Amino acid sequence: MTASKAQPIGRDCIAVALDVSTLEEAKRLAGAVAPHVGVLKVGLELFVRYGTSAVEAIAPFGVPIFLDLKLHDIPETVGRSVASARDLGVRFLTIHASGGPAMLRAAANAAGDQLRLLGVTVLTSISPDDLRSIGVSAPVDEHARSLARACHDAGVTGLVTSALEAPVLRRELPSSFLVTPGIRPSGAARGDQSRVATPGDAVRAGADLLVVGRPIRDAADPAAAARAIADEVDAALAERA
Ligand code: C5P
Repeated sequence: MTASKAQPIGRDCIAVALDVSTLEEAKRLAGAVAPHVGVLKVGLELFVRYGTSAVEAIAPFGVPIFLDLKLHDIPETVGRSVASARDLGVRFLTIHASGGPAMLRAAANAAGDQLRLLGVTVLTSISPDDLRSIGVSAPVDEHARSLARACHDAGVTGLVTSALEAPVLRRELPSSFLVTPGIRPSGAARGDQSRVATPGDAVRAGADLLVVGRPIRDAADPAAAARAIADEVDAALAERA
């Protein structure tokens, strides 16, 4: 967060992942949490099943939509797909930073002014051992830093990373917009996530937007869970101010 930006409020820093299998469930979850969060995320599960209808079903809640497709293909295909997403009116779209400079540039050129591209650095489910097993010998934060720099150089200013690398990326690229999945309130199950942080720690690490899925989706009362996370974020933002 730069000094010139207005101080955000906790609610605005939360993107809820609508990771459910039907549009009815997605609308129910969106309706419960929309008053308490800043962004609703449509991911692969809904998009593969319903396509653009998933975005159209969530739009009436009046909350910015994050389309999490993690595009990774040749530059021409990604550029044209980004243009399609731009025309849907979503606010955020993910692409894989590892797609290379030409792919990132094609995406940036297609995005226009309203769509914010987010370059996924190292998935939060990847552990240091996983990274080594796919032939990357650099430490996670070093690899995330190289990918973040490639995004920045191509004009992609949003970055997806775990909160653990956020301080390094914030130092390296102070004006970038940092999005952190792998958020686990104290005591919550990790599931398949490897590099996790509490909402408060993610904000203190410099995150701008926290992606929260299962801790809200699987809560007995998703609205109350979202409010509790927003309160924790507010407290951390106050410390950061
Ligand atoms: O909170 P939870 O682990 O359930 O959040 C998972 C959601 O975050 C999924 O929608 C997943 O696609 C998304 N995500 C992620 N790691 C990334 C980018 C997005 O877990 N690097």
